[in-house]
Amino acid sequence: MDTTKTNLLFLFNLVLFVDYSFSQLCFDSSCGVGEPTIRFPFQLQNLQPKSCGYPGFNLSCKASQQTVIGLPNSGQFTVQGIDYQMQHIWLNDPDSCLPRRLLTLNLSGSPFSGYFYQSFAFFNCTFDYTKYKLNPIGCLSGQNYTVFASSSERAVSFLASRCSLISSVDVPVQWTFPEPVATSDLSEDILLSWAAPLCGRCETRGGRCGLKSNSSTDTECTHTSRRGLPRGARYAIIAGAGVPALLFLVGLVCCLCGKVKRLACRRRLRSVDSASSAAVAPQSLVTTDGLDSSTIESYPKTILGESRRLPKPDDSICSICLSEYKPKETLRSIPECQHCFHADCVDQWLKLKASCPVCRNSPKRMSIDILVS
Ligand SMILES: *[C@@H]1O[C@H](CO)[C@@H](O)[C@H](O)[C@H]1NC(C)=O
Ligand SMILES: *[C@@H]1O[C@H](CO)[C@@H](O)[C@H](O)[C@H]1NC(C)=O
Ligand SMILES: *[C@@H]1O[C@H](CO)[C@@H](O)[C@H](O)[C@H]1NC(C)=O
Ligand SMILES: *[C@@H]1O[C@H](CO)[C@@H](O)[C@H](O)[C@H]1NC(C)=O
Ligand SMILES: *[C@@H]1O[C@H](CO)[C@@H](O)[C@H](O)[C@H]1NC(C)=O
Repeated sequence: MDTTKTNLLFLFNLVLFVDYSFSQLCFDSSCGVGEPTIRFPFQLQNLQPKSCGYPGFNLSCKASQQTVIGLPNSGQFTVQGIDYQMQHIWLNDPDSCLPRRLLTLNLSGSPFSGYFYQSFAFFNCTFDYTKYKLNPIGCLSGQNYTVFASSSERAVSFLASRCSLISSVDVPVQWTFPEPVATSDLSEDILLSWAAPLCGRCETRGGRCGLKSNSSTDTECTHTSRRGLPRGARYAIIAGAGVPALLFLVGLVCCLCGKVKRLACRRRLRSVDSASSAAVAPQSLVTTDGLDSSTIESYPKTILGESRRLPKPDDSICSICLSEYKPKETLRSIPECQHCFHADCVDQWLKLKASCPVCRNSPKRMSIDILVS
């Protein structure tokens, strides 16, 4: 049902796109191929009129086609993704050392704030850490010292007795980790959201937000489905009723694909099951090799936004069912290796086998246990 709704929205957006190219001065823009689409409330500084954006949302393009935003008290960050419906933005450090930026991150004066926060303590250590399963922050470490960031109470007390505390900071992480991570290199994009302007609902309904004329802060939503047939739709109909019919057909096919995916998921898992434990009867799916559901439930989950931003941008396909992630799908990641999958797929997998389908790491217990033993 969700798929159908998404497809309808997609159809509507397509129609709106036609409309927009005729009637608007503030075109969607971008700094390059694969870079985020830039539209209201964001605006490309010096390239688009000020009225195309909201105060505090000006972006610029670097020579390397990177999209860049300047935060008043924290300097420049690269923009890795924007989700207009959820009002989310993903940032990273242009110099590839995000943890250094996190130590001094101050969002005051910007329209953004964190969506999920997790507190991390940074330590400067000189002990030999190689026999522990710890993940150092390479870009902050030197020849004779290593820097770690941790959000786990046990790992923090372990490190506190051996290292000097640099600082404790609240990191705007992009995943909720119900179980705190022992140590993290904190290289993954941070996730921020904005409260004003409120254009997410407008975007979700297929509309586009913009500033009211003569105002620098009041917005209006145009071309929503509530306003009857938009001009774009009329163009589409003039162009031939065949076009929408075709789009509906595409929607129907996609809808079927969703079902095929779920089937594929089950089929692949069944083959894994029979390969790994041929003697086990099909109805006793929960073998002793798997994880219990409360452990599985404790693994971080996220719902994919329209922009389909993932923590690891390369993984656009779920390696269990081999189908591409689609907006609004629920994903789950395995905390230890942070590989992610459709929640439906990985939940079934973990019930059978307590290892990551991709890297075979055992996610059963995290490195905290190794630390203390
Ligand atoms: C965005 O615009 C404001 C005011 O117009 C300016 O102070 C700020 O420096 C601009 N941002 C960037 C990244 O240049
Ligand atoms: C963030 O920057 C503002 C303005 O410079 C300052 O007043 C505030 O104390 C800073 N906050 C932190 C936590 O450093
Ligand atoms: C860590 O400590 C060493 C001295 O032991 C010092 O030279 C280095 O600057 C410190 N690094 C950080 C990031 O605090
Ligand atoms: C690191 O330690 C070695 C020997 O302990 C020493 O020779 C070297 O100068 C140190 N390097 C730094 C950057 O302190
Ligand atoms: C916009 O503001 C200017 C001056 O502030 C005024 O002359 C003009 O009539 C206004 N236009 C509208 C459409 O309100």
